[in-house]
Amino acid sequence: MKTLKVDLKERSYPVYIEKECLNRFGEFLQKHYKGKRIALVTDSIVKNYYSAIVEKSIKDKGFDVSIIEIPPGEKFKTLSVLESVYDRLIEKNFSRDSVVVSLGGGVVGDLAGYAASTFMRGIKFVQIPTTLIAQTDSSVGGKVGINHRLGKNLIGAFYQPIFVFIDPLVLTTLPPRELNAGMGEVIKYGAIKDESFLTFIEENFEDINSLKNMKKMEEVIFRSCEIKADVVNLDERESGLRRILNFGHTIGHAVENLTNYKIYLHGEAITLGMIAAGWISEKIGILDKKKFLRLENLLKRLNIKSEFNTIKGKDLLNAIARDKKVKSGKIHFVLLEDIGKIVIRNDISEDIIIEAFNYISKN
Ligand SMILES: NC(=O)c1ccc[n+]([C@@H]2O[C@H](COP(=O)([O-])OP(=O)(O)OC[C@H]3O[C@@H](n4cnc5c(N)ncnc54)[C@H](O)[C@@H]3O)[C@@H](O)[C@H]2O)c1
Repeated sequence: MKTLKVDLKERSYPVYIEKECLNRFGEFLQKHYKGKRIALVTDSIVKNYYSAIVEKSIKDKGFDVSIIEIPPGEKFKTLSVLESVYDRLIEKNFSRDSVVVSLGGGVVGDLAGYAASTFMRGIKFVQIPTTLIAQTDSSVGGKVGINHRLGKNLIGAFYQPIFVFIDPLVLTTLPPRELNAGMGEVIKYGAIKDESFLTFIEENFEDINSLKNMKKMEEVIFRSCEIKADVVNLDERESGLRRILNFGHTIGHAVENLTNYKIYLHGEAITLGMIAAGWISEKIGILDKKKFLRLENLLKRLNIKSEFNTIKGKDLLNAIARDKKVKSGKIHFVLLEDIGKIVIRNDISEDIIIEAFNYISKN
């Protein structure tokens, strides 16, 4: 079993990754948890595919397990769904020494993790992520939470799991569009931290993105988690370094917001945002043109179309201004000096931001 450690002193934990490991989950749970009761939180789609196999492996090791099902998708990452999870935990007499296991994508992980962080002031939590975004990003690092009607992820906590358990084989049932959007986030890791990883993705793009070669996908997930863990290890609560993970997010978030979260999946909007951030980096003279084109060519292989002809530059600037990445009135941009090397700048003119947006609009 491939294992990497998220190194956060007393909150350290392992991330296990192996193809076809789902039926061994109970074995690993036994290593990390000496209690008896498991609340397995999952959404209705993932439940159909995978809850039986996980449930069996848990029961085979002598644990009691109750399944808590939530509806699938971002629009259910809400306070009322969270409340329904608390209801079930209370009705079923879960206690301080129980454990919440999330089985699903980032929505289930974020919501179940937040339930675990608050139920009885915090009970143990384990993640079994089942989307590429969840396997390479949201399950590592401890950010948990829900949306508020006035904005995404406004209610939440930093709460680390006791371990993360990743089976890349579950990606075979993921809708291809979700997988593709996740690839955008994977490319981000190469762009911000590791040129050789970017090269690996370039050279093996077809094998990875079509899941033809699961061994390569396993490597991609491992390296992505490793990069995310390295960043989180140095900055658990996002006070500085962790911001580098926001490459592509300034314009990406604004695009998501201005299209009312209806046109783009998050990873798709971030992919466009990364092209814009790369373009700005080249425009202000800090990134070599060839390197920008290299990144752009790879991101374009994800085939994400711009569908926001009606968005005006002014709306874009307003949306960026409303976003979290504006501090004391200045827009913070994560930009590239090289592939694998980022810099944060707060002196990008509004004209250049709009030009970058026009650039992605035309492509
Ligand atoms: N906590 C963090 O650090 C962090 C980081 C990135 C994203 N996020 C959050 O993650 C969420 C997005 O996560 P997501 O992209 O995983 O979306 P998601 O959880 O909504 O999953 C996408 C869809 O795929 C389905 N699905 C999941 N796994 C499947 C599988 N193996 N086979 C078939 N269908 C499957 C789900 O039922 C859902 O319909 C957002 O809410 C975002 O805010 C959190």
